[in-house]
Amino acid sequence: MELTTTVNDEPRVVEVDGTEAAVEVVRDRLGLTGTKLVCGSGVCGACTMLVDGEPVLGCLTPATRLRDAGVTTVEGIAHGDDLHPVQRAFAHHDGLQCGYCTPGFVVDAVAFHDRWRVEHGTDEPARETIAAALAGHLCRCGAYEGVFRAVAAACRGEHDDGAGTVERVDAPAKVTGSAVYTTDVSLPGMLHAAFRRSHVAAGIVGPITFPPGVAGVDLLAQEGPGDRRVRWAGQPIAVVAAESPAEARRLARELDVRVTTQPFVVDPAEAVRPGAPLVYGSRADRKAAPSAGEGGSMPVPWDGNRH
Ligand code: FES
Ligand code: FES
Repeated sequence: MELTTTVNDEPRVVEVDGTEAAVEVVRDRLGLTGTKLVCGSGVCGACTMLVDGEPVLGCLTPATRLRDAGVTTVEGIAHGDDLHPVQRAFAHHDGLQCGYCTPGFVVDAVAFHDRWRVEHGTDEPARETIAAALAGHLCRCGAYEGVFRAVAAACRGEHDDGAGTVERVDAPAKVTGSAVYTTDVSLPGMLHAAFRRSHVAAGIVGPITFPPGVAGVDLLAQEGPGDRRVRWAGQPIAVVAAESPAEARRLARELDVRVTTQPFVVDPAEAVRPGAPLVYGSRADRKAAPSAGEGGSMPVPWDGNRH
């Protein structure tokens, strides 16, 4: 279906398939890759954008919510080279490291800052108030202290007039969403992969048959001989490739995967009781089982640092 929307003050007409989320529209259809898709389930805040001035999670917001709405992504916060005070403050106070979570933090912090300044002038918000405003954001790098300093300084009005030096050369790109990460690269003919993951903490997965024309890999068939157990919710079961991320995700979602759930416990006290279901029957089972680790095993057991 076609919908009209306004993104960063520009009228846009986009085709959406009805199952897409708002973040897919801005990233995949409009190429605004500043907004990040990380957890896809409302946990991390990286996909935050403003819809009619209110912060929303782009991964949980249906694309259809953008119809006739005013959308602001991180790319639309600054006016050319004139950064928003919050962006200047993030750059100045080192409110970021890798910068992958930064667009989400910045968009939400801008909404908070703008509201705060109208209601409180240049009073500094309490640390708890800032924490509550940005509670939905996770930063794997742990740049939280810098974020606190940045938001407090911006609210005090210290970055209103462009004051403050940018101490990191990479910060302007990261606070404006123009930094390009691997997931933002799109090359002609490139395929995108999507995983189908286990929704249960323990189960046996049946053989997977890919529909004709679908390129995919049964990951459990690649691993230990005959081991088709899944041992944690979220464990990758299969991966498919398609010409767009949305198409890959659709194919992964629609794969016919049959899982027979096995007994499991998620409470540590239950787990140590005699007779509790075992994740691995033995150490050898654990070593032979499929692993999400990206590297190979060490050739010999680690025995402390010698040098
Ligand atoms: S990607 Fe939306 S909350 Fe994590
Ligand atoms: S700066 Fe790296 S995840 Fe936050």
